[in-house]
Amino acid sequence: MSDTTNQRRIKIFDTTLRDGEQSPGCSMNLQEKLELAAALVELGVDIIEAGFPIASPGDFESVKAIAGSVRGAVICGLARCNDKDIDRAWEALKLAPQSRIHVFLATSAIHREFKLKMTREEITERAIAGVRRACSYCDDVEFSPEDAARTERDFLCQVVEAAITAGATTVNIPDTVGYAMPQEYGAVIAMLKNKVPNIDKAVISTHCHNDLGLAVANSLAGVENGAGQIECTINGIGERAGNASLEEVVMAMKTRFDHYHCVTGINTPRLVPTSRLLSSITGLQVQRNKAIGGSNAVAHAAGIHQDGMLKERRTYEIMSPEDVGFKATDLVLGKHSGRAALADRSKSLGYKLTGEQLQSVFDEFKKLADKKKEIYDGDIIALIEAHLHGPEREEWKLIAFDVTSGSGHKPRVKLTLRHGDKEFTEELSDGDGPIDCAFLATEKITGIKLKCVDYQVRSASLGHDALGEVNLTVEYGNQTFRGRGVSTDTVEATVHAILVAVNRVAMTKGA
Ligand code: KIV
Ligand code: ZN
Repeated sequence: MSDTTNQRRIKIFDTTLRDGEQSPGCSMNLQEKLELAAALVELGVDIIEAGFPIASPGDFESVKAIAGSVRGAVICGLARCNDKDIDRAWEALKLAPQSRIHVFLATSAIHREFKLKMTREEITERAIAGVRRACSYCDDVEFSPEDAARTERDFLCQVVEAAITAGATTVNIPDTVGYAMPQEYGAVIAMLKNKVPNIDKAVISTHCHNDLGLAVANSLAGVENGAGQIECTINGIGERAGNASLEEVVMAMKTRFDHYHCVTGINTPRLVPTSRLLSSITGLQVQRNKAIGGSNAVAHAAGIHQDGMLKERRTYEIMSPEDVGFKATDLVLGKHSGRAALADRSKSLGYKLTGEQLQSVFDEFKKLADKKKEIYDGDIIALIEAHLHGPEREEWKLIAFDVTSGSGHKPRVKLTLRHGDKEFTEELSDGDGPIDCAFLATEKITGIKLKCVDYQVRSASLGHDALGEVNLTVEYGNQTFRGRGVSTDTVEATVHAILVAVNRVAMTKGA
């Protein structure tokens, strides 16, 4: 039995929708943000940083929509320390029953001198004014001295004290550029605890970037030295090398409760489903060997390890796969599996499908079962994700495609698409390969010229008959669109993914 006396409750502040979404390849539309916010509530995070309302009309609308509909967590919006930003943040947040305004201002010498061209005194005054204005709207105000980890220690203490006096209830200590070492970062938190006279009136928070791969270690060092909140993201996404990974900080504290004596409100079996949801929304796959959420994280390959595991799991397993949301299942579905078996498996994989969604996935499942004998969880996840995150409206539908390619001759593609009640066919052989031909034929038919900026193909499960999953990102005008397609034929999966992106472009054009 673990000793629970003197345990501390650490708040989990999720910034996937703000710092995470800010990073290239991670942008989400409103619907996707709402879906992720609902999943974060189910996961049990305490605070959701929903966006930076002044940054764009889209950011404003999404913070407003989340504040207006998501319940069960504090909804937070980011603002610089100026009236316009703070007023806009409040405008977006005001419908939330529990809201927080997060104001920030850089404090390090390098930011003061080159970016802000402000003196220490001016920074302190601006910070106080920003916190006061935020407090005029909301009781829950967080202040971040940006680049705190590189700020002169005496000045950091001074600004933190001033922000708390002005009304900040949380003071966040960002290692904005991921420069700090764990001992050093921990010492900054300890110093604030010891030297700032009013520190007991606020919660100290960590916000660590991963440029040197130390974001999780630094956040935990912060907790060991008195921080009561960790800012983190699902899958560790975020600016540059990302933020501290939520899954990792939470499981480190849970697995090593004996060391940290800290608990969180996270419902840990939701970690892997939430990580998968984010990957399927952004198309950004988690590396296989990533701690906690990677598909190899619970695989034991070496014979000596497998032998140990069979004798006693704890020989090589420090967490149970079920506790982070991996389902232990050897059951493979196939041709003879019915709708009930698929419904049951989908549920145990963490999906709640409506009757209609289940029927569509089941139709695809049956087609797949005709092509491949054994259907694994990875195949089922790929089918469900393609269905749940497919095009919102299908302007252009795939009717048929035919590709021939081989060494010594040019690839040829024949593609037929339907738009309304008309069918259009294009046949060409001037591409550099079957994928290029598929893009060119789609462009000729739809008149939508896409620039492919990212293309990834991976197998959804085991074996050479596995479903292939294609995730691509294209640019059209100055906007970015994503598409995903699955099929046992990777060219067909590519055509599906192109069409998802084309349909998203067509929707924005109102075509
Ligand atoms: O990294 C950083 O400093 C930030 C602040 C806005 C908190 O993201
Ligand atoms: Zn950050």
